[in-house]
Amino acid sequence: MRIEIRQLTADQLGEFTQPLRVVFGMSPGPEREEGMRRLPELTSRLGAFDGDALVGVAGSFAFTMTTPGGDAPIAGLTMVAVLPTHRRRGILTALIGRHLDEARAEGRPLSVLWATEGTIYGRFGYGLASHACSASIERDRTGFRGEAGAVGRARLLGEAEALEVFPPVWERARPLAPGMLSRSAAWWRGRRLLDDEATRKGGGPLQRVVIEVDGRAEAYAMYCVHHRWDASQIPAGTLRVIEAIGATPRGTRLVWRYLFDVDLVQQIEASLLPLDHPLRLLLAEPRRLRLTATDGLWVRIVDVEAALAARAYGGGGALTLEIEDRGCPWNAGRFRLDGGARRAARTTDAPDLRLDVAALGSAYLGGFSFRDLADAGQVAELTEGAVDRADTLFRAARAPWCPEIF
Ligand SMILES: CC(C)(COP(=O)(O)OP(=O)(O)OC[C@H]1O[C@@H](n2cnc3c(N)ncnc32)[C@H](O)[C@@H]1OP(=O)(O)O)[C@@H](O)C(=O)NCCC(=O)NCCS
Repeated sequence: MRIEIRQLTADQLGEFTQPLRVVFGMSPGPEREEGMRRLPELTSRLGAFDGDALVGVAGSFAFTMTTPGGDAPIAGLTMVAVLPTHRRRGILTALIGRHLDEARAEGRPLSVLWATEGTIYGRFGYGLASHACSASIERDRTGFRGEAGAVGRARLLGEAEALEVFPPVWERARPLAPGMLSRSAAWWRGRRLLDDEATRKGGGPLQRVVIEVDGRAEAYAMYCVHHRWDASQIPAGTLRVIEAIGATPRGTRLVWRYLFDVDLVQQIEASLLPLDHPLRLLLAEPRRLRLTATDGLWVRIVDVEAALAARAYGGGGALTLEIEDRGCPWNAGRFRLDGGARRAARTTDAPDLRLDVAALGSAYLGGFSFRDLADAGQVAELTEGAVDRADTLFRAARAPWCPEIF
């Protein structure tokens, strides 16, 4: 069997999504597919062909991602599928190899993804880099420790107004946590604000609320209510939060107070929250959140020097890393990181730490410490105190957060 990897055009999107329909059982409506076609972020649609037959696909989104103290152009690996007739013959391996080559050629020092299964991507140099938490809380247990402050005004918006009002709030919030991604207007329209069945998931229509303080938007939320009444006609419905973003801590408090106070709801559910979400301290009974963490973003360093230069460091220390990288051999070797100068360069100095590129991906956004990695046997400390020094350098003020699966 000879497999050829080729780029598909935007006009071939229908063809490109065919293996995804088979593998994920999904059938996006025409509006969602049209929205996808218009996304400027979707810059690569790789197809694996067995003769004329398209048997595997992998897409890539061009995003800017917030890093600790900076940002970086990244490649977001997405829509990966190989037909069941062609699995385990190296097609994914070929698609990822091509994806990483393209990312490197485009000057994108990181590839980032959400994994369907944790076993798939470690072998390709991706390291687990963030957590995604879900919460489920009874409405009558959502009291805050203090007052949210009754200073805000909540307004429900139609789609057109939300398209105007939400993006500036997102842009103010985006630098606040590593892992946040840029969004084009087409992304907002075709992905976030689209009110179709894929959004509603059997619930009511998409609701879009903005919280304004002194006339300025400080937070927004998107949610659907799944109404239900029990046998005694008591409301037993669920409010499913799709995204709640505050540009300020006050905005975050007010938008969650709004979400917790919607009537005719028994339960509020949210997912894709960061590990350090302020709700843990806002609520009088944090246990009632039933917060559970699962794996979030996976990060693959495509270019060590450029990736290390695209974030800030705590303290002005220096550290020499010896990186092992079988998938991208241009990354292998020793690099001296100068934290103050935000620079990494090849060196022949003796290394302080030895690690696989996947472990560096895990540490990059600050979601895992070098101590965590050393405890898991993923970092070797070669000079005394190097793990602590690395943690001083790589510590981030906030846990990484990517509130959307792409
Ligand atoms: C996951 C998927 C893309 C793998 O494609 P594939 O072409 O079969 O993968 P490859 O043949 O290149 O596999 C490379 C290696 O990864 C392993 N591997 C691949 N998928 C795996 C999985 N789901 N779990 C564990 N190992 C896996 C293979 O066993 C192989 O290991 P080896 O090199 O030691 O033999 C394919 O099975 C698929 O489409 N699954 C359903 C959709 C999906 O999960 N997509 C991922 C979206 S994030």
